[in-house]
Amino acid sequence: MKIGVTNLKGGVGKTTVAQNLAVCLAHMGYKVCMVDTDRNQNSLEWSGVREADLPSILVVGVIDAKALTKNVEHLEKDHDFVIIDGTPSLSEMTTRILLASDLLLIPILASAHDLRAIRQFIERYDQAKEFKEDLPAHFFINQFSARKVIHQSIKEMLAQYGLPIMESTFKERVAYVESAVEGKGVYEIGDNKAKAEVVTFTKEVLAIAEDKGFL
Ligand SMILES: Nc1ncnc2c1ncn2[C@@H]1O[C@H](COP(=O)(O)OP(=O)(O)OP(=O)(O)O)[C@@H](O)[C@H]1O
Ligand SMILES: [Mg+2]
Repeated sequence: MKIGVTNLKGGVGKTTVAQNLAVCLAHMGYKVCMVDTDRNQNSLEWSGVREADLPSILVVGVIDAKALTKNVEHLEKDHDFVIIDGTPSLSEMTTRILLASDLLLIPILASAHDLRAIRQFIERYDQAKEFKEDLPAHFFINQFSARKVIHQSIKEMLAQYGLPIMESTFKERVAYVESAVEGKGVYEIGDNKAKAEVVTFTKEVLAIAEDKGFL
C-alpha cells in the first residue's frame, strides 16, 4: 500500500508523520520503506543516522517528479507499505504524489495561515481526482493543543472541504524533535505519552487501510 503524506505548506509535520508512521508500522512487523521527495532530504538524512539494530526502513530519495511513480511501484513489490514524505509546494511532484498514492494523509497545524493554504491544496487534490476518482484523503491535526482556542474549532473549519479528519492527533512534544535527530521515531525513545499517541495514530491508519480493502 502506498501512503502519501503531503500538504503544500512547509513545516506542518509531513516528515514527522511519515517517519513516525514508518517506525510504528515496522515495529508492528510490516515491511516498510519511505520515499523522500523533498530536496532538503530530511528523511534520507534521518535514515543515515538510524542505528542498524532498529527495525530497518529503507529510505529512497526521488526528487525527479517523473521518476516517482515507477520508483513507488517498484518498491511496493517488496514492501507492505511505501510511505511518501512530500514536498512543500504545488509542484509537479505534489501532483505525482497525489496520483501515486492509495491513501493521502494531510498533516495540518491549526493556524489561520495554514487553513488558508489548505484551500489551494484542495484545489490540486480536486484536479487529481479528475484522473483518479478513488483518492481517499484524511486531514491529520499535528501539534494539537486543546487549550488553544483555534484548536477547539479546527474540525468545524476543516469540515467545509468535505474530507474526513483523523480522530488521532499529535500533541506538541519535544520527543518528536529529539527522536528525529537520532534517526528514530518517538516509538523508540522513552516518552510513553508520545509513543501511545503514535500507536493510536498508526492503528487508525491501519483501520482506514483495512476499510479500503488494502489489508
Ligand atoms: N508534534 C510535534 N511536536 C513538536 N515538534 C514537532 C511536531 N511535529 C513536527 N515538529 C517539528 O517541527 C518541525 C517541522 O516538522 P516537519 O519537518 O515534520 O515538517 P514538514 O512538513 O516535513 O516540513 P518541510 O515542509 O520543511 O519538509 C521539525 O523540527 C519537527 O521536529
Ligand atoms: Mg519534510
